[in-house]
Amino acid sequence: HSVEVLESVDSTNDYAKKKAKELVDGSVIISLEQVKGKGRRGRSFHSGKGDGIYLSIILKPGFEPTKAPFITSIAGAALVNTFNKFNIQTKIKWPNDVLINGKKVAGILTEMSADMEFIEYIVLGVGINVSGLEFPSELKNIATSLKLEGYDVKKLSIIWQFIYEFELLYNLYLNENTSEVVNILRNNSSVLGKQINVHYMNQIESAIAVDINNQGALIIKTQEGEVKELSSGEISIR
Ligand code: BTN
Repeated sequence: HSVEVLESVDSTNDYAKKKAKELVDGSVIISLEQVKGKGRRGRSFHSGKGDGIYLSIILKPGFEPTKAPFITSIAGAALVNTFNKFNIQTKIKWPNDVLINGKKVAGILTEMSADMEFIEYIVLGVGINVSGLEFPSELKNIATSLKLEGYDVKKLSIIWQFIYEFELLYNLYLNENTSEVVNILRNNSSVLGKQINVHYMNQIESAIAVDINNQGALIIKTQEGEVKELSSGEISIR
């Protein structure tokens, strides 16, 4: 692996995308701060200096683009395993948020450059709120940090553990094995069995989150009793 550590950057994902062509599979970019940290759906990700871990991993797998959404699942499972190693219990809010006591402690943003059959690269971005004590007022009720929850863990220890856990599960996936990841997602889900809202482009649908299938897709049952499979998307718990 090559690992590059930056003092500050707009977004490690954007930086990784700019350098993706010249960097090999498995390269890691870490920054101490992001001045334009990105969340999903055009949202920002609070990334104050020294408050958290902001990292991106460049992946160049040989598999087809339809298999890419599972990378987010692998990262979520690797985060849960990582936190477990430090005796921290977390839950995954499918597909890409990791929660402690119902509040977000880590987020995942996966971006890809691909055509119909070939992946040029995937940038897996992970943000973990480690030691921040202050969040902007609009985030106070929905975001937290390890420190705020009473956990004091060194950033470097988390970074190495996460890379280790991710690599293990990623290699299983390269060998067509999804069950380990899916078991982690199922056993540590904050949404299974709950009433949820599914957010589409300009519409919201009420449903129950029933299961997670072997591809990491969320199985939902709508109010009309229709069973659907979401391979990615945005949900909220009602
Ligand atoms: C989300 O909450 O919707 C996803 C958050 C992802 C944040 C990480 S921090 C490192 C990487 N670079 C970014 O700009 N975003 C991701």
